Amino acid sequence: MYSTEHYREAFLEFLNAEINVKEPRNLYEPIQYILQIGGKRLRPILTLIAADLFSGDYHKALNAAAAVEVFHNFSLIHDDIMDKAPLRRGKATVHQKWNLNIGILSGDAMLVKAYQLLDSYPAEIFTPLTQLLSRTALQVCEGQQWDMDFETETEVPIDTYLQMIRYKTAVLVGAALQMGAIVVGASRNDQELLYNFGEKIGLAFQLQDDYLDTFGDYTFGKRIGGDIIENKKTILYLKALALANTQQHQALKQYYTTTEDNEIKIASVKALFEATGAAQSVRKEIEKITDEALELLSKLTITEEKHQYLRDFAVGLMGRKV
Ligand code: IPE
Ligand code: IPE
Ligand code: MG
Ligand code: MG
Ligand code: MG
Repeated sequence: MYSTEHYREAFLEFLNAEINVKEPRNLYEPIQYILQIGGKRLRPILTLIAADLFSGDYHKALNAAAAVEVFHNFSLIHDDIMDKAPLRRGKATVHQKWNLNIGILSGDAMLVKAYQLLDSYPAEIFTPLTQLLSRTALQVCEGQQWDMDFETETEVPIDTYLQMIRYKTAVLVGAALQMGAIVVGASRNDQELLYNFGEKIGLAFQLQDDYLDTFGDYTFGKRIGGDIIENKKTILYLKALALANTQQHQALKQYYTTTEDNEIKIASVKALFEATGAAQSVRKEIEKITDEALELLSKLTITEEKHQYLRDFAVGLMGRKV
């Protein structure tokens, strides 16, 4: 196994060689832009790690890793349109920097590019990879639609919310790991164990994303309070409603009747998230789900050293600020 930094650099070198701007520039420049303004590269790093868990040659998984990252970035361009987000990774979002139509089409092209990156695999690997990617991609769309629908729904049970984030975020983290395992021919059983582990850390990852959307700082790279402005039924909001007294409950509901963009709404809701104990409760939930993920690892047929590597990785994610 290598350091995550090693995987990140190897991945970026590969990715940079894959993306070049040609005509029409208004199609390809946004693609290059979104892929090069940063990002943690969590998913492709996981694909490479998964390959190394079983074979020691992550190079075979670079195409699959790039497919996952290009797909993820496609989903971000469209997500930023849907969420009316001005900032991504500390820079202007694609639709903000160019326009809506350019965001739609460059995103579409990236979805196609994600599949094209898998073309070089032999049929026995290509087929399971594309099947997994297609199933996952549709689930991401389902999760995204639920997320949008919940903005205007009055009652969203926490279990329903968890199901939504499983679809919009967690399944892709699971798939990223499984794709690395598929490329190097890991057993079906190990593939599934790894997928389930990824799905769990993906859930914790999205809860942390919700948390940082309100409690992060400028290094998070997105507009802090964006979810509050859009009345997103995030875990913070749902826990706050569940824990609130009558007065807090009313106040919170009232704030979530308008999408008016104002700092007073953000500050007041943030204070309610803290006063109700929701913020602390979410941090606990993130720890609990990460622990559940770690428990799933024991059955994987890999060395203790590799188990430890995955454990350290998952625990590191939990404390992320970006
Ligand atoms: C953002 O994903 C979208 C979510 C699923 C929370 P990341 O937090 O992985 O974004 P980048 O790629 O590192 O910018
Ligand atoms: C994003 O969820 C999930 C996908 C992009 C599919 P969010 O809307 O919470 O992601 P951010 O916060 O904009 O990165
Ligand atoms: Mg968003
Ligand atoms: Mg969104
Ligand atoms: Mg978010």
